[in-house]
Amino acid sequence: MTEKNNLNGDNTTFTILIVDDEVGVLNSLKRFLARTGYCILVADNSEKCLATLTNNTIDLVLLDLKMPGVDGMETLKQIRFRYPEINVIIQTGHGGVSEAVQAMKIGASDFLIKGEPVEILQNRIKQIYQHWLLERENIALRNLNINQFHYEPLVGESPPIQHLKQLIVRVAPTDTTVLIQGESGTGKELIAKALHHHSDRRDKPFIALDCAAISESLLESELFGHEKGAFTGADCASQGLIRSANFGTLFLDEIGEISLQVQAKLLRTIQERTVRPVGSTKTFNANVRIVAATNRNLLDEVARSTFRQDLYYRISTVTITAPPLRERGSDIGLLTRYILESCASYHGKPAVASPACLDLLSRYDWPGNVRELDNVLRGAAVFSDNGILQPDDLPPALQELKEVNRQEPKKTSVAAFEKEAIKNALIASNYDRKEAVRMLGISEATLYRKIKKYNLKYSD
Ligand SMILES: Nc1ncnc2c1ncn2[C@@H]1O[C@H](COP(=O)(O)OP(=O)(O)OP(=O)(O)O)[C@@H](O)[C@H]1O
Ligand SMILES: [Mg+2]
Repeated sequence: MTEKNNLNGDNTTFTILIVDDEVGVLNSLKRFLARTGYCILVADNSEKCLATLTNNTIDLVLLDLKMPGVDGMETLKQIRFRYPEINVIIQTGHGGVSEAVQAMKIGASDFLIKGEPVEILQNRIKQIYQHWLLERENIALRNLNINQFHYEPLVGESPPIQHLKQLIVRVAPTDTTVLIQGESGTGKELIAKALHHHSDRRDKPFIALDCAAISESLLESELFGHEKGAFTGADCASQGLIRSANFGTLFLDEIGEISLQVQAKLLRTIQERTVRPVGSTKTFNANVRIVAATNRNLLDEVARSTFRQDLYYRISTVTITAPPLRERGSDIGLLTRYILESCASYHGKPAVASPACLDLLSRYDWPGNVRELDNVLRGAAVFSDNGILQPDDLPPALQELKEVNRQEPKKTSVAAFEKEAIKNALIASNYDRKEAVRMLGISEATLYRKIKKYNLKYSD
């Protein structure tokens, strides 16, 4: 007697499946609960219950224990195994403590006795419904964030990059200082530009300074400016990059390289929003957002007393980690197309990568990350004969992978890809399985199965 009481087709209605072999119970409960606005489906045995779960999105099951054929306890086990995300409330006319304990152990949300006032059931459903609502709002908020990302040069759709884009959209509108960490070539500067682009400062300057590329003595005047005659060679006054970036964003690359003296001055600027040029007694207002980057572990520098702890905490209010390319292999195809389209080939039109070439690119480890991929592709584009990159156009380190290719059976590649995608989603979501499920677009039950199949870690 499974009845399809439609779910609006869009999963916006909280849907309850009532499972009971007594038609009278089914009908009275259905009438009572439908009045509260929930969508109600019913099934009078275990088989129909499982069929309904297969064909519909159900949020809560009210399950009777004593039923002819497969009983409620066994049905509960099946539901928990196949749909671990669905809440189940056991309802029974013959409540025993041992049965209640067993049901809770299997994973029922609650165990209620049929004779009890119906308000108890109503309250319990309301709690579960409110939790469901909250979760949906969070998901909607996250999706909104990802759809709001519109900085095209930052290419990638892998789970770690999706996570990164969400973070950028959320953090950008605030004025908080951001520390971006990650290996060389992972796109830290690009992330800083994306933050600027999504902030209210987007129409004001974005100024980048590589602190490692400039001598200690010059760095101070470069940042804070100087008075005329402040030091030998200071023929005229300079306002410095902090004031040049007023109302905009100042990106300090390799911040771990700056001296303790400049660190102290920078801390004052961040805290007081003022700048005092070298050789001057005057201070100037400076409304600048600082985004810093490092490929070192700054906490190690703090431990060695080469980086001020107070400055570290000040700049790392929000820390963003740029994922290495080897952890987002599924982006190689997109990145390759993007890079090749931006560089002219020998023939004057963009080159494309052959499938064999893409295969090698996606199996290389990329210690130099996207910058290395960029260099390899630009070099290959220049040398390719007909604008179609072949394995022979690639550097020797990549060509060596051709040998490995021959030993590997082809049929494993889909599974390997799937395993990689799941591993990436788990890492990117910090092992939050609900978040990983959302990123991958699969059910939680499927995720559990795949984690087992590929022998992956459940947690960090
Ligand atoms: N997600 C991405 N999409 C497109 N291009 C990217 C991406 N990430 C990095 N790149 C490109 O890779 C190169 C290196 O990026 P970037 O300079 O931002 O890296 P970085 O992390 O600052 O490196 P370093 O630590 O060496 O300064 C640039 O050409 C950049 O455009
Ligand atoms: Mg950089």
